[in-house]
Amino acid sequence: MRLGASPITSADLHGLLDLVPDPTVAVDRDLRVVAASRAAGLLLDRRHSDLAGLSLDDFLPGGVLDPEAKLDVRRPDGSELPVEISVRVIEVDSGPVLMVAIRDVTERRGRAAALREAGERFKRLFEDGPVAMALVGDDLVLAEVNAAFCKLTGYSAEELSGLTFNDISHPDDRDVGLRLVRGTFTGEIPAFKLDKRYLKKDGEVVWVEVSVSSIRDEEGRPIKTLGVMQDITERRLALTHAHEELDRLARERDRILEFAGEGIYHVDEDGRITFANPAAAKMLGWPLEALLGKPAHELLHHTHADGSHFSRYDCPIHGPSERAVRHATDDVFWRRDGRSFAVHYTSAPVSEPGVAGAVVVFTDVSEQVAMQAALHDARARAARERLKAAEAERARWARELHDETLQGLAALHVQLASRVRTGTVDEMVVQMREAQEQIESEMDKLRGLIADLRPAALDELGLEASVQDLAERTQVVYGIEVDTRLELHDTEGAPQRLAPDVETAAYRIAQESLSNAARHAGASRVFVEVAQRDGKLRICVTDDGGGFDPGGESSGFGLRGMRERVDLLAGELEIGSQPGSGTKVTALLPVG
Ligand SMILES: Nc1ncnc2c1ncn2[C@@H]1O[C@H](COP(=O)(O)OP(=O)(O)OP(=O)(O)O)[C@@H](O)[C@H]1O
Ligand SMILES: [Mg+2]
Repeated sequence: MRLGASPITSADLHGLLDLVPDPTVAVDRDLRVVAASRAAGLLLDRRHSDLAGLSLDDFLPGGVLDPEAKLDVRRPDGSELPVEISVRVIEVDSGPVLMVAIRDVTERRGRAAALREAGERFKRLFEDGPVAMALVGDDLVLAEVNAAFCKLTGYSAEELSGLTFNDISHPDDRDVGLRLVRGTFTGEIPAFKLDKRYLKKDGEVVWVEVSVSSIRDEEGRPIKTLGVMQDITERRLALTHAHEELDRLARERDRILEFAGEGIYHVDEDGRITFANPAAAKMLGWPLEALLGKPAHELLHHTHADGSHFSRYDCPIHGPSERAVRHATDDVFWRRDGRSFAVHYTSAPVSEPGVAGAVVVFTDVSEQVAMQAALHDARARAARERLKAAEAERARWARELHDETLQGLAALHVQLASRVRTGTVDEMVVQMREAQEQIESEMDKLRGLIADLRPAALDELGLEASVQDLAERTQVVYGIEVDTRLELHDTEGAPQRLAPDVETAAYRIAQESLSNAARHAGASRVFVEVAQRDGKLRICVTDDGGGFDPGGESSGFGLRGMRERVDLLAGELEIGSQPGSGTKVTALLPVG
């Protein structure tokens, strides 16, 4: 090399070397340093002036002839640094010298070593690791697969070579896999994860989670795609199983809702119906689909039973959750045809992730409500009847006391008064005796009345003796023949006692029948039977009178009272009569 016309002098060399960016030494033919740059001094840890005269071998063993050789410079303290050199020959006045530029490559070599190491680690992991991996080229052919991948797919590496990853993918997963992998090569998709299926060599399906990332060259261009696969067959099976179970439960739920007798619907937060079952639609008179999306309150709950407006803001179904659980029987829902029906409903708030509002379950209770009303009416009617009967009974006793006892006492009073004023002592004695007899007769009548009011004999003697007494009194009072067959005693003649309410009812039935026979029938004979058989007490009163139509209207209370007593004891009453052919009253009362 010549710089200008005049050759470079040895003295120029020092200045020249300092212009070169890399540390540089100039050596002569014998490889002895003739000059060194300051940078070379720093690199070699010597004063650059001390370098002159040293042999290149002293600090750069290995020579300079092989530019590919890996060289190290040696410092005086024995430490070494990796370097690269470049050599040029230049001519100076004393002849040719070699300019040896020495570049410190510690950093680059370190990087390369790290890369090499990482590469080796990856190689080991790829080859021997438990994770299935495959490298795919841009032709989508499996460029390299590891043992774990072979194990996963059941193919050998040889069998796989030349195949694309799609050749062993499940047909349904091919398109998406292809699209994504192509994306990694165009650079649109740097990495992705995908659950997909491979078809193993034996045809079995294996589910894998593939993590795919592209491998790039130094300029960042994708050259290969690496897929790392994890076998998730079991997880998928469990997932499939869970889905199936969920589907089954959903079908079960749908079936329950489908066939439930109760109306069920769900309203969302805005009060709109999002779901209703067939029973709800039927009760409300709407086609099922027509209910969906409608505001429930305005559709079916807008008006109270009394016709007044029912604001949605007062409705417990749409109210705050703590008020929202309600049972209501005095409420009504409105049908499509504008008629209402009584309901019993429950509203439960729903607050789960993604769902809100309330579920309402309702039943039509109009029949129960109607039945209750009817029962109420019947009870009121019965109470009125009882009151009337009691009043009539009292009127009868007033009549009896007035017509019989008071009349008698009044007559007695008149007789006695006149005798006191006019009579002699003898006449008075006679009168006193007559009065005594009359008083006794009145007392007898009163006793009879009292016995009718409350048959004391019933408590003391039992039913048989009381009915016998009643028959005898009727015979005396009305002058008709009364026969009895009373079988309410044991073999030794001791009275058979029954529950007090049964005895009272039986006595009153016999009494009323006897009284009717005597007063209305025009009978000459009456036959009274009382007996207990098969857990039932039978009272039967037959007369040979004129008979009557038992279905006809009557203002009396006797027969009505009789029926009521029998009903109260859950017994049976039969009145067999026809005008002209006598009457037979039969009552059967259950005895505990
Ligand atoms: N054994 C009978 N023979 C003929 N008619 C009868 C007989 N029993 C009842 N009747 C007819 O049935 C009617 C109704 O009888 P019921 O005992 O209910 O009332 P009552 O006897 O008229 O009045 P009360 O019993 O209140 O004093 C009687 O008025 C009578 O016409
Ligand atoms: Mg009567």
